[in-house]
Amino acid sequence: MNELTQNWSHDSWRSKPIQQQPRYPDVKALQAALNCVRTLPPLVNQGEVETLRTHLAKAARGEAFLLQGGDCAERFTDCNKNAIEAKLKILLQMSLVLTWGARIPVIRMGRMAGQYAKPRSKDTEMIDGVELPSYRGDNVNAIDPDANARLADPQRLIQAYSYSAATLNYARALVDGGFADLHHPQHWDLGFVRSTANRKKYEDIVDRLRDAVDFVESTGVRGTATLKTVELFCSHEGLLLDYEEAFTEPVGENWYNLGSHFLWIGERTRQLDGAHVEYFRGIENPIGVKAGPTIEPEELVKLITTLEPENRPGRITVITRLGAEKVTELLPPLINAVTEAGRVVTWVCDPMHGNTVSTDTGLKTRDYDSILAELEGAFAVHQTAGSHLGGVHFELTGEDVTECTGGPQELSEADLSRSYKTYCDPRLNYGQSLEMALRIAERLQSQRHAA
Ligand code: PEP
Ligand code: CO
Repeated sequence: MNELTQNWSHDSWRSKPIQQQPRYPDVKALQAALNCVRTLPPLVNQGEVETLRTHLAKAARGEAFLLQGGDCAERFTDCNKNAIEAKLKILLQMSLVLTWGARIPVIRMGRMAGQYAKPRSKDTEMIDGVELPSYRGDNVNAIDPDANARLADPQRLIQAYSYSAATLNYARALVDGGFADLHHPQHWDLGFVRSTANRKKYEDIVDRLRDAVDFVESTGVRGTATLKTVELFCSHEGLLLDYEEAFTEPVGENWYNLGSHFLWIGERTRQLDGAHVEYFRGIENPIGVKAGPTIEPEELVKLITTLEPENRPGRITVITRLGAEKVTELLPPLINAVTEAGRVVTWVCDPMHGNTVSTDTGLKTRDYDSILAELEGAFAVHQTAGSHLGGVHFELTGEDVTECTGGPQELSEADLSRSYKTYCDPRLNYGQSLEMALRIAERLQSQRHAA
């Protein structure tokens, strides 16, 4: 442990003001559940966590690109074969497209295997005229509109551990078992993408890739085993600190959260003197911090410095979510302040959370064009500032849902009710995600050619 984290311990966050935690009616049952989680084996290994930090350090320098994506709120029912395969498939396909455009390694990171806790803007919500405690994610309570179902249930923490473990286990098995093998392009089929233009572009990329794989193998170059598998990392918002603490353990002199490779601090819990910042500053994992439109440049610099006094590249990822209309105005001062303070961070754009709107019927949605506009704004601002946009952060699903408007299927507000399944924020569907990846790849390619 270094000098600056000396006053830290895995539970020092308990003496700080804390936001967004559930109130458990039965505190003894909470302690018993946490003890149970504590004794179970970790979900990830410290070596993988270190590897990820090295990759993210490359992304900070523009030598790698992060693709982070998955559900807004992962549900326990998403822990099944089809859902995991669909999620992995869209992440792999998008990363393939991005690698093609960028010609640099793409770091694949799911918002998965633990993305079960949600911050809420209000403690209660009205459903059919009845006021109920808000749904806070499957590891806290059930979504059913029923007062009992909405009580915080500690047993859900043990379930969250099991569902995370099962999700990660199957995802790892898929990756190791050839799901990502570039020799088997049947895994790269396009499912229900209807747009012929997208289909054609993607098929071209896959054909050219197969050609490249054939060529490399025909030269007898060794080490082609890397074509058979990929690395996959998991991540979630580190919101429930009781739960996160149960995964926190020393390895040698340092402390790791071995419940996930990467964790981030949400927009609602990033108070400088708050419990989340206190907890996060002491773990070795690479961490993210969301930065929304209200953050001041000085505040961001203080946050980064408090979280990572040693300024190690790859440890801090700043995930900006400023909104399409504000990104051009608000991002440059943030980048300038961080650069002037000499802080190394990996800049990532989350074009989802600053672009949420409600329809007349009360559904939360996001428009494909606003999402793309924030991304393009972020790319342009970084280019002008001479910094690197090191990655993107999406809420997406491999399924054909109708939650965001626009995109290749030109979904309108009237289409949304057809297959609106999210438990929280609206996600890009399969076609919208792939189209987004093609747009980003084009952008990365033109940047590469201009360089
Ligand atoms: C989220 O990522 O689902 C989320 C709640 O984001 P933010 O903290 O940026 O609002
Ligand atoms: Co969300």
